[in-house]
Amino acid sequence: MTRPAPRPRRRSVPQRRAPLEFRQSGCPLTRSGEELHSDTPHNRVKPEVSMRISVVVDGTRYSDDVEPRTLLVHYLRERIGKVGTVSGCDTSNCGACTVHLDGRSVKSCSVLAVQADGHEVTTIEGLAHDGALHPVQEAFHAHHALQCGYCTPGMIMQSVDLLGENPDPDEQQVREGLEGNLCRCTGYQNIVRAVQDAAGRMREGSAAQAGGAR
Ligand code: FES
Ligand code: FES
Repeated sequence: MTRPAPRPRRRSVPQRRAPLEFRQSGCPLTRSGEELHSDTPHNRVKPEVSMRISVVVDGTRYSDDVEPRTLLVHYLRERIGKVGTVSGCDTSNCGACTVHLDGRSVKSCSVLAVQADGHEVTTIEGLAHDGALHPVQEAFHAHHALQCGYCTPGMIMQSVDLLGENPDPDEQQVREGLEGNLCRCTGYQNIVRAVQDAAGRMREGSAAQAGGAR
């Protein structure tokens, strides 16, 4: 009987050494905040700073200290409780976080809270007036243009902006206007119908207002 050939001995892998600055001052991921702020020149993690912002949200002025890196969507939800604005991807893909900044739609996960300083933000919570839903909200309700509802705040805010630009969009124009907003329940058919219905409601409302003003 022949003996099995001896297995080759594994060579030990030399451990990589940490970069020089970590060896001198420790890893910034594991050191305490006090340590982080105390040493130079190798410290690359800067002390946290905050900036004062003043922003009008849904008609109310808020003044707060925020970190410069705070996203507008996080400021709205976590600091001032506007949880009607939702966060889906945080990477400006899904449109769930859409709000209006000075009347135009923006994805609030791609705007810093400090960029909203001195500006006016409208969220889905500020769309209804005196207890009356906005015509786009009414049309979404009438056409059942939602399933789980997660995309709905962003869809509605984007639709309002779209109809502000084009009061009478055809189906293709609605689809193009909403292309930055994703519905994972794939309820697009009813959403498109709702937006076109809302366009009609808004045109009628404007005509009635114009008639009443004469
Ligand atoms: S959470 Fe802002 S685009 Fe998805
Ligand atoms: S209704 Fe569920 S994601 Fe659009």
